[in-house]
Amino acid sequence: MARSFAQLARKAEKTKASILVEKEPLEAPPLDIHTLGDVALRKAATRISKVDDTIRELARDMLRSMYTAKGIGLAAPQVGIQKQLLVIDIDHETPTTPPLVLINPEIISSSASVETYEEGCLSIPGVYLDVVRPASIKISFRDEMGRPKKMNADGLIGRVIQHEMDHLQGVLFVDRVTDQDGLNKELGEHGFETKDVCSI
Ligand code: NI
Repeated sequence: MARSFAQLARKAEKTKASILVEKEPLEAPPLDIHTLGDVALRKAATRISKVDDTIRELARDMLRSMYTAKGIGLAAPQVGIQKQLLVIDIDHETPTTPPLVLINPEIISSSASVETYEEGCLSIPGVYLDVVRPASIKISFRDEMGRPKKMNADGLIGRVIQHEMDHLQGVLFVDRVTDQDGLNKELGEHGFETKDVCSI
């Protein structure tokens, strides 16, 4: 009996700490997402010194807003919070697959080989354009429990991580687009202005 109570308690504790939220869209998501032209998207984010319940609740709220917007990644600066926190989930179909939470992510190494991939961003809705980036990366980060982790990422997940990490430096994917005509056209068609792009 005692043991099963302890197990139950551990399970409850785990559930409380879990970052998993319902992946269904909400009528009123908790956080608004800033769009291209908002100064919040251009500020550098600061490192998180303590991973606590406040950070975990922020991550959950970011996930709720991300699922509602049908996005696969969201960075804290996109909701006006200048902290180095990213949430990513490329599998909306499976309710039990936990999302990836990256705190203070750093790139340890990038592949010399590059890939072209069409990107979009919840802060620039409707705009999709090709971006060239390293094909694979190795990163270090802390997870939602504050545990230090390392990971190799390529394909879609590697691409999403690189896109989201840019947000922590105030960089948007349109800054990296080399096809200037395509960029102007696509932005114009979706109500955005080229003057808000900071080409790199
Ligand atoms: Ni984005």
